[in-house]
Amino acid sequence: MQAGHSPGERVGLATHVHSGMESSLQSRDVAGVHDFVLLENYGSEDAFINNLQKRFNTDIIYTYIGPVLVSVNPYKNIPIYTDDVIKTYRNIHYFEAIPHIYAVTNTAYQALKEENKDQCILISGESGAGKTEASKKILQCIAVTTGRTNQVESVKEKLLQSTPLLEAFGNAKTTRNDNSSRFGKYMDIIFNYIGDTIGGSLLNYLLEKSRVVMQAPGERNFHIFYQLLSSSDASLLDSLHLSPNTYYHYLNTSIVSMKDNEIDDIGQFRVVKRAMDVIELSEQEQTAIFTLVASILHLGNVGFSQDENGNASINAPETIATVAKLLACDPAQLTHALERKTIIARGDSVTTPLNKELAMYARDALAKAIYDRMFTWLVQRLNSSLRPVDDEFNRTKVMGILDIYGFEIFGKNSFEQFCINYCNEKLQQLFIELTLKSEQEEYFREGIEWVPVQYFDNKVICDLIEERHKGIISLLDEECLRPGDTSDMGFLNKMSINLVDHKHFVSYSKAERTMLKQIPRDEFQLVHYAGKVTYSVHGFVDKNNDLLFRNLIEVMASTKNTITKAVFTEKELESKKRPETAASQFKKSLNKLMQILVTKDPSYVRCIKPNNEQTSGIFDEQLVRHQVQYLGLMENLRVRRAGFAYRRTYDVFLKRYKSLCPGTWPNFNGDPKDGVALLTQHLQYNKYEFSMGKTKIFIRYPKTLFMTEDLFQLKKNDLATLIQRKYKTHVARKNFLKMRWAAIVMQKYIRRFLAKRAMRRRRLAVEVLRRLLKGFITRDGQPTEDNMAFIQLSRINYLNRLAGNLPKSLVDRNWPPCPKACRDLSIVLHKLYRGQQARIYRQTLSPEKKRQFDLKILAEKLFQHKKKSYTSTYLTPFEKVRLPSELHQHKTQYETNQLVPGEKLLYCTNITKYDRHGYSPRDRALLVTTKAIHIVDIKGFKVKHKLSLESVTELVVTAEMDGLLLIRIPLELKKDKGDLILQCAHVIECVTFIVDAVKKPNILKIASTSMISHNMIGGKEGQIEVTAGSELGFGKGKTGHLVVTVN
Ligand SMILES: Nc1ncnc2c1ncn2[C@@H]1O[C@H](COP(=O)(O)OP(=O)(O)O)[C@@H](O)[C@H]1O
Ligand SMILES: [Mg+2]
Repeated sequence: MQAGHSPGERVGLATHVHSGMESSLQSRDVAGVHDFVLLENYGSEDAFINNLQKRFNTDIIYTYIGPVLVSVNPYKNIPIYTDDVIKTYRNIHYFEAIPHIYAVTNTAYQALKEENKDQCILISGESGAGKTEASKKILQCIAVTTGRTNQVESVKEKLLQSTPLLEAFGNAKTTRNDNSSRFGKYMDIIFNYIGDTIGGSLLNYLLEKSRVVMQAPGERNFHIFYQLLSSSDASLLDSLHLSPNTYYHYLNTSIVSMKDNEIDDIGQFRVVKRAMDVIELSEQEQTAIFTLVASILHLGNVGFSQDENGNASINAPETIATVAKLLACDPAQLTHALERKTIIARGDSVTTPLNKELAMYARDALAKAIYDRMFTWLVQRLNSSLRPVDDEFNRTKVMGILDIYGFEIFGKNSFEQFCINYCNEKLQQLFIELTLKSEQEEYFREGIEWVPVQYFDNKVICDLIEERHKGIISLLDEECLRPGDTSDMGFLNKMSINLVDHKHFVSYSKAERTMLKQIPRDEFQLVHYAGKVTYSVHGFVDKNNDLLFRNLIEVMASTKNTITKAVFTEKELESKKRPETAASQFKKSLNKLMQILVTKDPSYVRCIKPNNEQTSGIFDEQLVRHQVQYLGLMENLRVRRAGFAYRRTYDVFLKRYKSLCPGTWPNFNGDPKDGVALLTQHLQYNKYEFSMGKTKIFIRYPKTLFMTEDLFQLKKNDLATLIQRKYKTHVARKNFLKMRWAAIVMQKYIRRFLAKRAMRRRRLAVEVLRRLLKGFITRDGQPTEDNMAFIQLSRINYLNRLAGNLPKSLVDRNWPPCPKACRDLSIVLHKLYRGQQARIYRQTLSPEKKRQFDLKILAEKLFQHKKKSYTSTYLTPFEKVRLPSELHQHKTQYETNQLVPGEKLLYCTNITKYDRHGYSPRDRALLVTTKAIHIVDIKGFKVKHKLSLESVTELVVTAEMDGLLLIRIPLELKKDKGDLILQCAHVIECVTFIVDAVKKPNILKIASTSMISHNMIGGKEGQIEVTAGSELGFGKGKTGHLVVTVN
């Protein structure tokens, strides 16, 4: 920030968003008060001006009178126009921070969005007071505040660029302002329903076109002429036949000789070119524009001379040729049109030569007409570029910005100043209407207690100018339209006669009479609301007629230039009606403007000019006081102090804020006034804060309203949440139902699928079962398709069962039962299994055991079912040595001593030998070897018999329980004593060993007879008698036989 700017204000700006409202309220008042309403001595003009000056001296240029912004032109850049500052003002109420044009803009913008009502910002003040600058700041603020989509950005860029473009063509340097608007501008910014900028529309008012051909000393023509001539684009200048060195009559200068360091024409030209690109003016359109500007400059240099008949002729035909070439029209026709005039008299067109003066007049009229129509074309072209897309037109809202030429007093004031000042009267009238008059009338109407505030109503001046039949404009038109020679002086006379009694009109004659300051004979004075202005009557009639000779229009209509071709048409010539005069047109357009403005919610910016020098730091108290007076700021303040900041009809107020009070929410059915009363009670409004009128509530301070509005904004969140909740529930339920439905459908399909599958399975199962059942029933029959499966199954089951139930031991002869189909298999398997078991058993047997088995098997073969004692012996294991232990040593000795080499003892037992004669018993031992049977004496083991194994031909035993063993000795060997009669306790064991050694099983004879004969020596035979008895016994019977008793 610049030095001198109050640090307190700065702090207030930067921190007000965060700190409480009270602290920012304080910080706004570091220099003077920020709102004149707060002025202690509010009735005093001195205090008022003092406050303005105090603030001005600390570079605080803005001050409020309630909602009205008073702005004092600082004539220097103050750094309070950055985007950051705009953002600071965005979401706050205007009274919460130091006054600013952004605060006003933002308030209007918020109202547009919130209340959906068209807005307009009216900027007023005299020339150079800062109106145009203010309008630019408003645009900038809107641009920064609104949406950021591409489309919005492009529209905003166009809106912003429309300013430099229009300024180049419509602004000029005057003695009052280096960049003075020489046209009136009303711009509508168009917003869509969410508050985004979507377009714009411009209205232009009465361009001061006389400037094109003539400027007052110290003033310039419109900027564009100088800008074009300063262009560094040599080829452009060439093509337009322009040169900075050439003297241009319409500029009163050549560009090189012009010294104006204040204005950067070169830079501005680049800005203008860029603006044209942004506005989307085509290359052709841009060329057409520059061509027209150049044509006007050339046209200005067309001079005339006059012959002795008073007929004018062009001096420099080459200049005319250039103009014709640029405009693409016939030079001869153009020349002709400039030297003569054509008028229609009673249906015939009559052409008459012009004198030099008239020719120059015609030339200037043409130049002005071209420039003026081009300017209007440009505005329309801008409008078409800014027009929102068609479908966006519904639900749009606009914010209008009125920046019109300010009240103007020059050394010499002409028709233009008259129009400009008239326009300012109208605006002042509107301001009074809306702020002072209607307000007070409303209090009265509504029955609010009110002491009327006196103010000056400028309606009387407006009437003086525009009243039908009596007003100045009517008198001027009358003079213009009357037949015969019309003149400015005629007009002045008319006024002097008709308006002589009017308080606000002074003419020469009237001044003379009333001894007022002299007024020249050709001038008249109007006492405007803003001061007295003396107008020179010269040119009024001409300018009002605004005539362009027919033949000039015809030439222009014949040009090829896009713009002239479009703005001058033959149609214009066909119209029989006389065109409306300039003043009447202006009056009409102003009244239309007033109609536009009254339909909108207005905001006001009142611009004040601190000095006439256009310099910073000078506060010309007198000058300011004058403006404060004529702007009616004091009255404004007085109404403000006593009045109410805000009013709304009860129903509207209730509709907006009813949600803030339980008694009125959601609906209040009674009289809205009662509803509002309830509401104010609930919101605890203080008595002095508001007043209840007949149809409206009046709220005194914006603070009260904004407090309410803030509450509403907060409440809106709650309401939004409620709506959201309902909506979300609705959406969620819809979703849920959809999902449930989907789930049901899915379930249906899945269930069907599962059911089908289960059904198939069950059907299959039934089939399998049925087949099995059939198979079971027919399992014993022939294999068929039906029972095969069952049989197969029973086989598998059988095998599985079998595997788990196999007998563990070889002795276990059990074998699991089997189905019929497996009977053969079972047998084979049983056999195989037993074979396998036996094999395993065998493999685990020791040689001894094996021998034991072999012998037992042999014994079985020999004796089973043949000898009774067999059954009682087969469980007793065979023993190789059946001798009492005391004999073992003998036996061992015998083995070593008596056996021949290679002979091995196989068996030995003690036996009883019976003599063949007398059958005396003798204790002997019998030894079986691999070669022979040895019978030895038991005492000392002396050999008694030795019978080689080959010699053993027969063994005889009885079939009974006894131990008789008869060993037949072959006859050739009977040299000894005949057959051996032996009794052996283990006869079966003994026989088995012998047979095993002899290896001839058939040598055993089991006698079934009771008599057994045996050989004796000498061919004799003995008899052994087997008889039954109670006791087993051996002995010689009475018969002489050996009797064996068995039981
Ligand atoms: N807010 C401002 N800050 C700085 N300079 C300003 C401001 N307002 C106006 N000026 C200066 O005053 C000059 C005239 O302002 P302008 O808006 O053209 O006046 P008006 O449109 O009322 O005739 C501008 O060119 C500019 O130099
Ligand atoms: Mg201006």
